[in-house]
Amino acid sequence: MQSVVATAQEESVYLPVMARLLQVRQMTKLEKLFTLELPGARSLGHDPGQFVGVSLLGIGEAPISISSSPSRSNGTFELCVRNVGDVTNAMHGLEPGDVLGIRGPFGHGFPVDKMKGKDILFAAGGLGLAPLRSLINQVLDERGSFDRVIILYGTKHPSEILFPEELDEWAGRDDVEFHMTVDRGDDDWTGNVGVITTLFPKITINPRNTVAAICGPPIMYRFVLMEMMGKGIPETQIYLSLERRMKCGVGKCGHCQINNVYCCQDGPVFRYSDVKGLEEAL
Ligand SMILES: Cc1cc2nc3c(=O)[nH]c(=O)nc-3n(C[C@H](O)[C@H](O)[C@H](O)COP(=O)(O)OP(=O)(O)OC[C@H]3O[C@@H](n4cnc5c(N)ncnc54)[C@H](O)[C@@H]3O)c2cc1C
Ligand code: FES
Repeated sequence: MQSVVATAQEESVYLPVMARLLQVRQMTKLEKLFTLELPGARSLGHDPGQFVGVSLLGIGEAPISISSSPSRSNGTFELCVRNVGDVTNAMHGLEPGDVLGIRGPFGHGFPVDKMKGKDILFAAGGLGLAPLRSLINQVLDERGSFDRVIILYGTKHPSEILFPEELDEWAGRDDVEFHMTVDRGDDDWTGNVGVITTLFPKITINPRNTVAAICGPPIMYRFVLMEMMGKGIPETQIYLSLERRMKCGVGKCGHCQINNVYCCQDGPVFRYSDVKGLEEAL
């Protein structure tokens, strides 16, 4: 187990810092985007793929990925939150000016430096776009340091599409190859219909020069991994984010443990070659 990392906390990693909610935006029926500011507008200092523990007094704490990019921090950070339970439901009731507890940032994110000079292939499914957006915007802000940028995004239905303005912007860039799909269309949908793997025949890959980043619902991983490896991308060049139920976030309580791996601290982003042999990891 690694040592407890430095975080936004000044005293202890177990004590939340109270952050102020600056903005709340309804993104879909179930998801809201929260813009937050730490005291003194100090930087959260995160890497793409890391997460924070978000707490509300008397309710509890939930791990949430940081959705904004470090390159766009501007003294604030963003969390895209689906309303599924106690903490997230209470968060959805908050308004600008309210405060909530933040611990972190925790864990290991995507290895941005190792990705430099490579083609980057992103595969995001549903809410998995929230953490990948942090990495995508970081890569786009340092566009000259990367080779091709290929983004694949799939949702169940057009009404569940997240960050639509940003998707339009990515799709409109001539230095980004953007493909998206929905499982089921509606009357207005003119794009691809089918699961995310139906996008793979549309792209060409130079496997040795490609680094892939995957985030989405558990069911997606197996099939996306098969497509990526079918295109010849080495297992050592595929990174994925794993979700486990978490408590401490710092490798102490064992809630997120898979064999000798602590998802909260060794991950949540792992290299596929490092976790493929772990029972129940995927
Ligand atoms: C690293 C990481 C990053 C994440 N990032 C995001 C993100 O960016 N956005 C986001 O919206 N979510 C994210 N999540 C998921 C989020 O943390 C969970 O949905 C969390 O449970 C929400 O907390 P809650 O109190 O609102 O829900 P809970 O009250 O915990 O309920 C959530 C769901 O789990 C079920 N449940 C509750 N307790 C248990 C139990 N003991 N065993 C099994 N099921 C149970 C509930 O019935 C409900 O369906 C992330 C999770 C991890 C681990
Ligand atoms: S959440 Fe406590 S060890 Fe990972």
